[in-house]
Amino acid sequence: MAVHDRYVAVNGDHPMTADDDAYVREHFVPATPEAMALMLEGRLPLASYVLRDGTPMVPAAHGELAEIAGGIDRLREWFVAFWEGEEETGAQEWAHYLSGQEVSLRDVNPVRIRQREERIAEAAAALDLLRRDPRDGTGRGMLGEAVDGVLAVPGLDWLLLPMTAYDRLRFGGPTVRELWVDLPRAEFLTPAPPAWPLRTERLVLRPYEPRDAEAFVEAWASEEWSSLLLSRPMNRAEVVEMVRRRTAAASDEFVSLVVEHEGVVVGDSLLHLQGTGMSEGEIGWTVLPQHAGRGFATEAAREVLRLGFEHYGLRRIVANLDARNHRSAALCERLGMRREGDKVADFWSKGRWTSSYDYALLREEWEAALG
Ligand SMILES: CC(C)(COP(=O)(O)OP(=O)(O)OC[C@H]1O[C@@H](n2cnc3c(N)ncnc32)[C@H](O)[C@@H]1OP(=O)(O)O)[C@@H](O)C(=O)NCCC(=O)NCCS
Repeated sequence: MAVHDRYVAVNGDHPMTADDDAYVREHFVPATPEAMALMLEGRLPLASYVLRDGTPMVPAAHGELAEIAGGIDRLREWFVAFWEGEEETGAQEWAHYLSGQEVSLRDVNPVRIRQREERIAEAAAALDLLRRDPRDGTGRGMLGEAVDGVLAVPGLDWLLLPMTAYDRLRFGGPTVRELWVDLPRAEFLTPAPPAWPLRTERLVLRPYEPRDAEAFVEAWASEEWSSLLLSRPMNRAEVVEMVRRRTAAASDEFVSLVVEHEGVVVGDSLLHLQGTGMSEGEIGWTVLPQHAGRGFATEAAREVLRLGFEHYGLRRIVANLDARNHRSAALCERLGMRREGDKVADFWSKGRWTSSYDYALLREEWEAALG
């Protein structure tokens, strides 16, 4: 009872729903009697939640940190040492930890607390930059790292738990995750399609539709045409299925466009939005054999570069191709892309190690070339 009273004094008296209970059971564990005694002495954090049946719940690592610290008596010293040179912040973090309200983290420990604070500060600075200019490259990089992480740097999407309706009541507002993952992701990291179709001098580019499968059946059946693509030749059913998937995915980060000339499908153009802060696009293309050699792939790709840089605000667009694909390499060169990588026997394709080229173009290079 004493734990419950202390808990209400800290958190206020707010109702837990059945969903809240289920969430807490999934992410937290019941406090042991020993842990409860230590809570009341202020040596271990107070319960993080109390279930509707009165069970006090704590993070799974509740007692573990004391062991890592070398005993309960050394826990405080061990904890605040992570804020060396910032003792006041360390003391505040310790007090917050003891309150049991440290509930936003998947792993409750000082390393993750520091990472969360760093990533939130980074996200806040990034949002400042991006609200002034949504294409700001530094802002994209910072927001991408803050939300999704970069290699060994974990982002908030990984660090933070979703939390509950009860938390919204006791903390009086949106959860940390809603503020620093969901909102920034919706505002700056979720690509929104432009108004279709796109038009160039001779071509129309529009999202795939199921009826487009027929135009691609013959080309995809050809061993020769598909030889330098990653996929092996496809039969009719496989092409229909590929077109169905491309149709369904048209509005997210896989932009799959059919290219038409005078109402006839002549090929396709792809742009996969990726990378830190969704700031890079990988471009891809095909031209049906009977329409090759007329500059259609080049004209469509120029429009896709414009779409990537202007509409999606990309800072860099890349192309990766089999080094034997001379026509594709020539197309990259025509587009003014720079060959950055000449990789030897680096990827496995269709039964052999094959070499590949990486081409890339930065937005400023593209703008300079336009004049
Ligand atoms: C890669 C691929 C799209 C290149 O097709 P392409 O026909 O060479 O490219 P384009 O449609 O841009 O046409 C360029 C050719 O048309 C000529 N051309 C004619 N009019 C033109 C114009 N108005 N503008 C530009 N080029 C024109 C160019 O001189 C060039 O011919 P050349 O290579 O003999 O010099 C095509 O080979 C293909 O689909 N291959 C199979 C699938 C594949 O490998 N995809 C790429 C995977 S990385």
